[in-house]
Amino acid sequence: MRLRGRKGIRENIESQPELVVLSPQDYKGKWLSFFGNDNPIHVELGMGKGKFISEMSRNNPQYNYIGVDMYDELMRKASAKARAAHGIEEGKLPNLALALFNIEKLEDVFAPDELSRVYLNFSDPWPKKKHARRRLTHSNFVNKYKNVLNAEGEIHFKTDSRSLFEFSLNSIADMGLRMRNISLDLHAEERRQDLVLTEYETKFADRGMPIYRLEVVIGQSAYDRHLRALEESDKRQAVDADTDTDEDTEQNDD
Ligand SMILES: C[S@@+](CC[C@H](N)C(=O)[O-])C[C@H]1O[C@@H](n2cnc3c(N)ncnc32)[C@H](O)[C@@H]1O
Repeated sequence: MRLRGRKGIRENIESQPELVVLSPQDYKGKWLSFFGNDNPIHVELGMGKGKFISEMSRNNPQYNYIGVDMYDELMRKASAKARAAHGIEEGKLPNLALALFNIEKLEDVFAPDELSRVYLNFSDPWPKKKHARRRLTHSNFVNKYKNVLNAEGEIHFKTDSRSLFEFSLNSIADMGLRMRNISLDLHAEERRQDLVLTEYETKFADRGMPIYRLEVVIGQSAYDRHLRALEESDKRQAVDADTDTDEDTEQNDD
């Protein structure tokens, strides 16, 4: 029998503790025991109906994923979406948990160094200045993310809101943190096949609205890797430039 109403939703999420975690603080410092492996943990804060976290976890078995939201109904919807994406109707999904809690309580749920990546996708923009402290890229929140991210730690942020994006650039720059992969129009040239889109992103991109994206490098290992990638890219560009010069010279000789 299909259960309806608030009671039905509660019963639904209570009936799948191997996927939906209703007391996530019990796992603080012990999330790898939930997954039964040592793989890095990536978390989406404010997952909504769960399209992104479902597809990311299905596509990337080498990582563990936790989708966070604070509403029972979204837990129910996301659990159904995740099960459909993984093709698993009952029991555990190999690398996914859905956790019900308010992001304000992040440090009650995760221990220092427990996470490798935080995704913030289309977070509520809170446009009024008096609500600035509620924005998930406010320094109060970013400090919480810093406290639970490890040496590989990164924050990946996407939004349709220009004002939230501007606020975030300033907030993160004021904290002295390093940003990379900044885009003012993520899908500018064509719909990117290599990116997993969220529900909101699909809606806004279909309307032709620009999607803003930035990444923040938090951990030292992530930063070192980033510098090495920049050096490699510089070297490749230097080789390409040399090749171009040789070709130009040959054409001039003709
Ligand atoms: C605008 S929706 C974006 C949903 C999804 N990430 C997407 O891109 O389609 C923002 C989501 O964040 C959740 N959220 C906002 N503030 C939160 C908080 N303090 N704790 C947990 N979830 C929160 C909301 O419930 C909502 O599902």
